[in-house]
Amino acid sequence: MSLPPGFLDDLRTRASLSQVVGRKVMWDTRKSNQGKGDMWAPCPFHQEKSASFHVDDQKGFYYCFGCQAKGDAISFVRETENVGFMEAVRILADEVGMPMPAQDPKAQEKSDRRTQLAEAMEHAVKFFKLQLQTAAGADARAYLDGRGLKPPAQERWEIGFAPDTWQGLWDHLIAKEVDPDLILGAGLGKPSQKGGKPYDTFRGRIMFPIRDARGRCTAFGGRAMDPNDNAKYLNSPETELFDKGRSLYNHGPARTAVGKGQPLIVSEGYMDVIALGEHGFGGAVAPLGTAITESQLQMMWRVSPEPIIALDGDKAGLRAAMRLIDLSLPLLEAGQSLRFALMPEGLDPDDLLKAQGAPGLQKIIDGAIPMVQLLWQRETEGMVFDSPERKAALDKTLREKIKLIKDSSIRGHYGQAIKDLRWDLFSTKRAGPQRRNGNFKGGGFRGGKWQPPQNALAATKSSALASALTPEITEHLREAIVLAALVGTPEVAEEFERGLESMTCRNSDHADIRRVILRSLGASAGELRENIYDALGPFALENLLNANHVAIIPCIRVPGDVEKVRLTVAEELGKLNAARGLDAEIADAAEDLTGVADEDVTYRLSQAAKAVQESVRSTEEDKAEFDLGANGAKMDKDERSALDALMETIRYSKDDT
Ligand code: UTP
Ligand code: MN
Repeated sequence: MSLPPGFLDDLRTRASLSQVVGRKVMWDTRKSNQGKGDMWAPCPFHQEKSASFHVDDQKGFYYCFGCQAKGDAISFVRETENVGFMEAVRILADEVGMPMPAQDPKAQEKSDRRTQLAEAMEHAVKFFKLQLQTAAGADARAYLDGRGLKPPAQERWEIGFAPDTWQGLWDHLIAKEVDPDLILGAGLGKPSQKGGKPYDTFRGRIMFPIRDARGRCTAFGGRAMDPNDNAKYLNSPETELFDKGRSLYNHGPARTAVGKGQPLIVSEGYMDVIALGEHGFGGAVAPLGTAITESQLQMMWRVSPEPIIALDGDKAGLRAAMRLIDLSLPLLEAGQSLRFALMPEGLDPDDLLKAQGAPGLQKIIDGAIPMVQLLWQRETEGMVFDSPERKAALDKTLREKIKLIKDSSIRGHYGQAIKDLRWDLFSTKRAGPQRRNGNFKGGGFRGGKWQPPQNALAATKSSALASALTPEITEHLREAIVLAALVGTPEVAEEFERGLESMTCRNSDHADIRRVILRSLGASAGELRENIYDALGPFALENLLNANHVAIIPCIRVPGDVEKVRLTVAEELGKLNAARGLDAEIADAAEDLTGVADEDVTYRLSQAAKAVQESVRSTEEDKAEFDLGANGAKMDKDERSALDALMETIRYSKDDT
């Protein structure tokens, strides 16, 4: 296709480069100047922590000072979406609402070798379809019939048959004057090793044409009739037309069906897609005999923001799901996720439809679980978390998974969802046996928040929480400061949920208040006070807030300063945890701050902490003032020591990776 003059210039002018790039990077808001269209970010083309990738929005060019990647909006889309020039143009034009020029006469395309290859493929499609109707195809027809695929369905899916001869297709195509080079180039024939005539790639197989999104036949899948054949399915080799990792079976029709409101269902096999389609689930696709690739994921996401992965209900299916989770975590963006529909053990969608029809499958689709839950399930099922070490191991694994998510907002949501699940697992007493694999009914997002499924894993309350250390006044005060700060400014409590949970309360008053705080996450300060009053009587709050060293802390005396409370709580929890030698929990605090909190705040804190670290910390005098008393008495010291603690947490989190 050729584009009219000026089309590309127009497109480049209308597409905002910073908007296009902004979906793939996290802008460095300090370095960038949005007003001037002068934007900086860590480079999406190479691994880096600093922001050496520059976008000049006015000129429409980007350049990376680290890896020298450069280009415009079109090349950016090409590189990041793995598409060709025209496809990139189409994506951008779509975005800015420019209609693509109508395809001009076939003239140019005719000469295109790919078109010629595709024509050879169409000849083959027709040939295979005809062969299915001949005497040689009788067994194949009977087989299809036996699997419930009647002639109209065979016709809809263009199913054919490759006769069990060496040159059936070859001779046919030669007779149709198809160039031998094209037959070989399309992967339909293979050169003979013995110098004879080339032979057919597919012999004695039921044939499924594979078409790209635009409907061009790019490959075939061939199913052996013989159950003892050592390749049950044989796919076309990769050719100029066929890139296995960038193809999806039924891509085009599925896209249309999804456009009409169907869910995009990703199954494992051709027969599953066909069975789904025949039962009214038109939005079904399958990869082609390999694990789903990153390109295929991107293709799916372009069809639907939340494809439903229909997994065979066996170990291999679950393993495939886990691989897919690992593949997709770094790619998650807003409106770009996955759900998982777990088939009953031993069944694929085709089997299930045969056994229970469309309603049975619909039920499975309706019960599809979000990715975060499958992740959780993998790490927790069949395990008992009855020791701090085991809990810490779980936290570490999950934290590492969540860290893979590049999009900070999604990362935050995942962190929160995991926290909710964790809270349910560790912090409530539940009776009943461990739940079995795969049974996750009853969970769901309600009110925008993940609600753990009923009858979740039997939880074991940490014994560490119950066992108090030897009383020591400073630790008692640190706890009191944490609790008092959160009571005054409960907006911050959610960020420290995990730290609060594992805080060793030195007396039962503290434990009680903590419990009410955790139960009241999301409540306003007034509501929280009321809850404490209701649960613990009139003196609990008074005792807490009036303790000497507590009342004078600035952010407690004047509540509401979110940032200051955050710093104070981070410090005190950090100190408490450090005292207990629980490094993992400190890393946790850092994760909470880097993952959930505003990136900008985190950045400034780390910079400030660095400065404090360098200028203040070394002197003896400051060490003295670093005591709890000084912390409360002087606002500066309060801040300074909080920053220092934060520095520690940041250092820990770095070591962690
Ligand atoms: P399955 O073995 O699950 O087959 O392979 P299926 O789809 O259920 O097929 P039926 O129902 O037995 O006919 C799933 C997919 O894996 C690829 C094919 O794409 C198949 O659809 N595959 C499988 C191969 O490429 N080669 C094989 O030998 C087997
Ligand atoms: Mn099957």
